[in-house]
Amino acid sequence: MASTTQVSFLLAAVLAWALASAPAADSWSKEGHTLTCRIAQGLLEPAAAHAVKNLLPEEVGGDLSALCVWPDQVRHWSKYRWTSPLHFIDTPDQACSFVYSRDCHGQNGVEDMCVAGAIANFTSQLLHYRHGSADRKYNMTEALLFLSHFMGDVHQPMHVGFTSDQGGNTINLRWFKHKSNLHHVWDREIILTAIAELYGKDMDAFQNHLVHNFTTGPWSDDVSSWGDCEDLLSCPTKYAAESINLACKWAYSDAHEGETLSDGYFGSRLPIVARRIAQGGVRLAVFLNRLFGEHHHHSDDVVASPAGSMMNW
Ligand SMILES: *[C@@H]1O[C@H](CO)[C@@H](O)[C@H](O)[C@H]1NC(C)=O
Ligand SMILES: *[C@@H]1O[C@H](CO)[C@@H](O)[C@H](O)[C@H]1NC(C)=O
Ligand SMILES: *[C@@H]1O[C@H](CO)[C@@H](O)[C@H](O)[C@H]1NC(C)=O
Repeated sequence: MASTTQVSFLLAAVLAWALASAPAADSWSKEGHTLTCRIAQGLLEPAAAHAVKNLLPEEVGGDLSALCVWPDQVRHWSKYRWTSPLHFIDTPDQACSFVYSRDCHGQNGVEDMCVAGAIANFTSQLLHYRHGSADRKYNMTEALLFLSHFMGDVHQPMHVGFTSDQGGNTINLRWFKHKSNLHHVWDREIILTAIAELYGKDMDAFQNHLVHNFTTGPWSDDVSSWGDCEDLLSCPTKYAAESINLACKWAYSDAHEGETLSDGYFGSRLPIVARRIAQGGVRLAVFLNRLFGEHHHHSDDVVASPAGSMMNW
């Protein structure tokens, strides 16, 4: 018979396993992040491509997308628990707006602890990389992975959602035949259903269609405006505001507790999800090209110094 110690050891092991393999809630699915990062990497100019390769650990062979979900994998480790609030923003119920000073804080009220603040933070850390003055306090590899991940998250409309329903996490409903919640519908269900049903389970085909859509397809007139950004440190506020607007217009509408969402919701929302993934990728490329580019962008210098000292977190 097993002794009590053995039993409790076993229990602990099972618990540890269950925790480690719990689905990473609260993020674009692995596919969403992978797509955003692949699109971005495909748009890098040589200097940025080189810097990214330098910063990535050797084992991923220069593939940024292989590590774009890393921040989700570590957010429950004690060392990285502080990063948990950086994946999202809670806005006041029904307000349908994002106001940085009102909404960007952690649960305990610590300022800037939200996805828009985090993008500014890691962008500001990476600005020092080009100037060769990388602060030893900061790990530039981690800054790159966090920036790449959070650029994806800020584009997921339900990552900027209402406070009382935790961005749709507490709105339980069905996605076709299985149980889900509104947050997960936007994180993963729409993407996974599209890849499975419309692209023969081929994520590359979905990616090619996304890229087609913004290079020569329906978004090609729009795409240059996606990258418009005077000040890298304040643009994330704009992206978050877009997300809560989309959340109100497309995510919360026609989706209530206990309902079943199927073809109608899927067909009308997929173009929104697809566009947000593409926008996240294009904008991540813009950030990385400016951060690591050879050309000096005047506006970056203007913001770099005050922000550098301000953001001495
Ligand atoms: C910025 O990053 C540093 C570590 O790199 C961290 O200590 C700080 O809390 C971060 N702040 C935000 C808002 O992300
Ligand atoms: C930076 O972070 C990565 C990922 O956590 C880690 O593997 C690496 O050892 C760190 N580098 C330094 C210099 O601490
Ligand atoms: C491409 O654009 C069309 C037209 O807007 C849209 O219906 C479709 O969902 C988009 N697909 C992808 C993968 O971007």
